Amino acid sequence: MEILVTGGSGYIGSHTVIELINFGYKVVVVDNLCNSKIESLKRVEKLTNSKIPFYKLDVRDKKALKKIFEKHDIYAVIHFAGLKSVSDSIINPTYYYDVNVGGAICIMQLVQEFACKSFIFSSSATVYGNPSKVPIKETFPLCAVNPYGRSKLMVENILQDMLLANTDCKIALLRYFNPVGAHVSGLIGENPKNTPNNLMPYISQVAIGKLDKLKIFGADYNTSDGTGVRDYIHVIDLARGHIKALEYLENNQLLIANLGTGKGYSVLDLIKTFEATTKKKIPYEIVARRKGDVATCYTDTSYAFKKLNWQAKYKLDKMCKDTWRWQKNNPNGY
Ligand SMILES: NC(=O)c1ccc[n+]([C@@H]2O[C@H](COP(=O)([O-])OP(=O)(O)OC[C@H]3O[C@@H](n4cnc5c(N)ncnc54)[C@H](O)[C@@H]3O)[C@@H](O)[C@H]2O)c1
Repeated sequence: MEILVTGGSGYIGSHTVIELINFGYKVVVVDNLCNSKIESLKRVEKLTNSKIPFYKLDVRDKKALKKIFEKHDIYAVIHFAGLKSVSDSIINPTYYYDVNVGGAICIMQLVQEFACKSFIFSSSATVYGNPSKVPIKETFPLCAVNPYGRSKLMVENILQDMLLANTDCKIALLRYFNPVGAHVSGLIGENPKNTPNNLMPYISQVAIGKLDKLKIFGADYNTSDGTGVRDYIHVIDLARGHIKALEYLENNQLLIANLGTGKGYSVLDLIKTFEATTKKKIPYEIVARRKGDVATCYTDTSYAFKKLNWQAKYKLDKMCKDTWRWQKNNPNGY
């Protein structure tokens, strides 16, 4: 019995593949490599001393995907494959819906056809839109405010409809907060193809000298220092949340859980911690707010803890340290 990991050579996928193998699962990876390199999986193989079956294909290519389901005994699917840039989704919404919704539907149809037991979906805290208060609970109203967030919400809804129609397949919707950090080996980490959209890789590229300075989008939010507050979670903690979700689905039909640390840090907090742990200076300038950014976003961790007996264990300094090790050892990524 194997776990199919779509998008398994990407940032969160590659770290999750390591954890899955460490926990004794057999893994099959599909990825079209549109935002990753096969080198990440080669390094995962090295780190886990294993051979990982890999198929370069687009998750919208149902015919090709079906062959994987025929060849392997797929017990569960963890669906990471998708596009993740909010700004790109605003520029090219139909492409985002095609990949994120169309790709998920394609996999879901095969999951039904081959009677897979579990499906874990990478959702996002963006499905809460601009929440009226924090910490964010899973029961808060859902309100996506951009095509990326809407694509996540659509898939969440379709999966729950599938659950109603097909009681055999169990479903987890995991809403990630802000994954950062890298594997402690410094061999795998986040590898943005272009200028990073996310804060941590941006900071680490400033630290290594690839970018001049960080732009802070807004310092006039209603937060302790005026900059946006986010819930940063170490990617390994996040990966382990997927293992817990797999275990939970053994005896349960549906899981909807936020995965974060429950602590909010401002942009300036993150810069200070990065500087203190790495001894690198991060020059920055404050510019206008970015459309669509919320002031504060962090999760209530009690539900995930209660249901999964899971909580993030790594702190912000470890997230910075591991990011920097990866960046320093791989200045140009993979
Ligand atoms: N990183 C974050 O901040 C974050 C936060 C919340 C949710 N998520 C979600 O988690 C998932 C993984 O994110 P990530 O940060 O690892 O991103 P990533 O881009 O590093 O990984 C996604 C992988 O999917 C692959 N892929 C994309 N489209 C594909 C397609 N049509 N067919 C096959 N493979 C395809 C890419 O090549 C890449 O390897 C995504 O669905 C993303 O939306 C990420």
